[in-house]
Amino acid sequence: DGYSARQLFSQGICYTYDDVIFHPGHIHFGAHQVDLTTNVTKKIKLRTPIVSSPMDTVTEGDMAVTMAMLGGMGFVHYNNTIEEQVKHVIKAKKHTPGMVVSPMVLSPSDTISKIDKLKDLKDFSSVCVTDTGLLGGKLLGIVTPMETDFVTNREQSLSEIMLRDVVTAPESTTAEAALTMIKEKRLDNVCIVNAAGELVALAAREWFKDARFYPAPGAPSLDASGKLLCGAAVGTRDADRDRVAALVAAGVDAVILDSSQGDSTFQLDMLAHLKRAYPDLEVIGGNIVNSYQAKRLIQAGADGLRVGMGSGSICTTQEVCAVGRGQAAAVFHSAKAARELGVPIIADGGIQNSGHIVKALALGASAVMCGSMFAGTTEAPGDYFFVQGVKVKKYRGMGSLDAMTKGSESRYYGDTQTLKIAQGVSGTVRDKGSIRRTVPFLVQAVKQGFQDLGAQHIEEARQLLYGGAMKMEGRTQAAQAEGGVHDMLTFEKKPW
Ligand code: XMP
Repeated sequence: DGYSARQLFSQGICYTYDDVIFHPGHIHFGAHQVDLTTNVTKKIKLRTPIVSSPMDTVTEGDMAVTMAMLGGMGFVHYNNTIEEQVKHVIKAKKHTPGMVVSPMVLSPSDTISKIDKLKDLKDFSSVCVTDTGLLGGKLLGIVTPMETDFVTNREQSLSEIMLRDVVTAPESTTAEAALTMIKEKRLDNVCIVNAAGELVALAAREWFKDARFYPAPGAPSLDASGKLLCGAAVGTRDADRDRVAALVAAGVDAVILDSSQGDSTFQLDMLAHLKRAYPDLEVIGGNIVNSYQAKRLIQAGADGLRVGMGSGSICTTQEVCAVGRGQAAAVFHSAKAARELGVPIIADGGIQNSGHIVKALALGASAVMCGSMFAGTTEAPGDYFFVQGVKVKKYRGMGSLDAMTKGSESRYYGDTQTLKIAQGVSGTVRDKGSIRRTVPFLVQAVKQGFQDLGAQHIEEARQLLYGGAMKMEGRTQAAQAEGGVHDMLTFEKKPW
């Protein structure tokens, strides 16, 4: 009754997540007892098996900080200068866990109307005022809704209305200590300042409240010295060697060799160089989709592998280049080979819901990488804007003409001298709010999926998978329709 993964995936059909379904296993524990702790590379362990994609509309500093705070990890894109990429990594490495990720900071000459406009684009309740209008400037005051709510002249400058008597705390203050101050002294904010009176961070009541209602699914991902983990992507050209040197100096924990087709001499050479030059740096190779490619990159030194070709929501690689693989098959075959060599894989692309995450992990992935799931969130780069009344953010493939024009063509072996062939699209996605809300829901749903499978942790799922006890089947189109919502006039949307 049912097929093992080996049977199902050896039929000459490249199934993807929606094509397969698991049979339930035997439950011998509660969903709260499921532990999803995983290795994203040989050495890096995460409590949340989810990472954010190195795309220029997905991961910069804010996403990297927040992913690590939620027990996952973010990989900063490299469609930028070395200095810009390094700045995002430093933001993550310097962030004090628990503080507001990006406090809104303006200058004294800014007006209340500027705050009104920013409210449409960003998520914040209070505004810190510094002499430079930036974090790191000398703290002059703070503006909370109390100061602005009932002011009719919105052109008043912040210097006229700001609260100058700001409660501050020194740079060494932990988030826990700041929260205690907020509770005991009934404060809305505590501004964290250095010895020169410059604003370095913000602790906020609203921020802590969110953390209470949407508790992080796992402890923050920290390095050995207690700083947040942060990854970054690089290419395989000579100039990328300088990029890695700068990222390593900034404290990056892992680099991804970013290529849509990673089975190349360029990548093997880069892997050999990086493992020689930085023996402690974790290097993730890819992308790959089968066991031969997995073995080749692992033999060249990869500490982790990124799996997926053309499965992403913005990808056109399979249509344009006729190569790729259904993502469930790619994950199963690559993971099986990589496990024999002790290397974890990241299932990259095509994740549309928590069920896809359960499937990826159950088929051998140690983590999933998401692009579209996190695009359009508060933490994604770029401002919100409105399209026909709908609040949206931009989301684009790194192989779209739009992104390649900014420089990302090396991922697709592009050559600026000749015709550019797009392997991705550019567009918009709806505002999805903060990943501080999305990720806890996703993780809890995945835990429930694991409970149904009868696997209390990832290693137990592996034993069921490779031992053949985990049973599954392909789904017809009618079975897929039956497994989704049907015959309803209206129904509530996803909780996030
Ligand atoms: P999702 O489905 O999460 O996929 O949006 C994100 C992943 O898609 C890959 N990616 C691309 N693939 N053309 C492609 O064929 C592109 O332009 C492109 N941009 C990103 C990438 O692996 C990412 O993590």
